[in-house]
Amino acid sequence: MNELPKHIAIIMDGNGRWATERGKKRSEGHRAGGKALENIALYAKKIGIKILSVYAFSTDNFKRSQEEVDFLMNLLIYYFNEKLDRVAKEGVKIVFSGRREHLRDDVLQAMDNIVNKTKDNDACILNICLNYGGQEEIVDATLKIHEDLNNKLIKKEDLTRESYYKYLYQDLPPIDVLIRTGKEHRLSNFMLYQNTYAEIYFLDTYFPDFSEKHLNNVLDNYKNRDRRFGGVKTN
Ligand code: IPE
Ligand code: IPE
Ligand code: MG
Repeated sequence: MNELPKHIAIIMDGNGRWATERGKKRSEGHRAGGKALENIALYAKKIGIKILSVYAFSTDNFKRSQEEVDFLMNLLIYYFNEKLDRVAKEGVKIVFSGRREHLRDDVLQAMDNIVNKTKDNDACILNICLNYGGQEEIVDATLKIHEDLNNKLIKKEDLTRESYYKYLYQDLPPIDVLIRTGKEHRLSNFMLYQNTYAEIYFLDTYFPDFSEKHLNNVLDNYKNRDRRFGGVKTN
């Protein structure tokens, strides 16, 4: 039986469809998704999950209308300043993964504030992937490695699949459980390096409806997943 996963990741998808199907504007779906995130982050901490990574905004999400991008950025600032304060007070350390370029100054400032405010928290980590792309992360890591090799800070043989994590946006352990809400069965450029042996769960539930119950179901199922990592079952 598997122990409680150390690192859970969620592709929080389906906010727009949740809203549209209820005759609401897509922005209402994002607002409801924000509430669901606050709720699930606190619950994950309560049950002892050490790391939760969430996909909040992808590099490709800039392809959306200016109105939707602006709404999302304003909502993120609101969450970092107001809502995540509660999460922060509960001892959660908040970190970000993604590129800073193309993000507005006020968004960067709100991100920096919450990172600073929670940097000494040690109950668990909430890694928010914002302006994040998995391929971009690998490209950025490659550039950092190139620099370290050039500056003779590392030797070629120092680079292994394990040491590579140090070059990613955050040096976190591999993902044990990946959940994607919202019916689609794809990765959409999310944490490609870290999901190598993740146990994947695709849920039909739209993210605003994702709750403790859904996470508990996933965790119950995960206990009995046979994680072989390329080996052969031993029991
Ligand atoms: C996920 O919900 C949130 C973000 C990508 C920011 P969507 O906005 O993708 O919702 P759907 O997939 O259109 O329903
Ligand atoms: C993935 O969802 C990104 C986030 C949840 C932030 P998308 O809605 O952007 O993915 P696609 O377009 O369906 O692949
Ligand atoms: Mg979507």
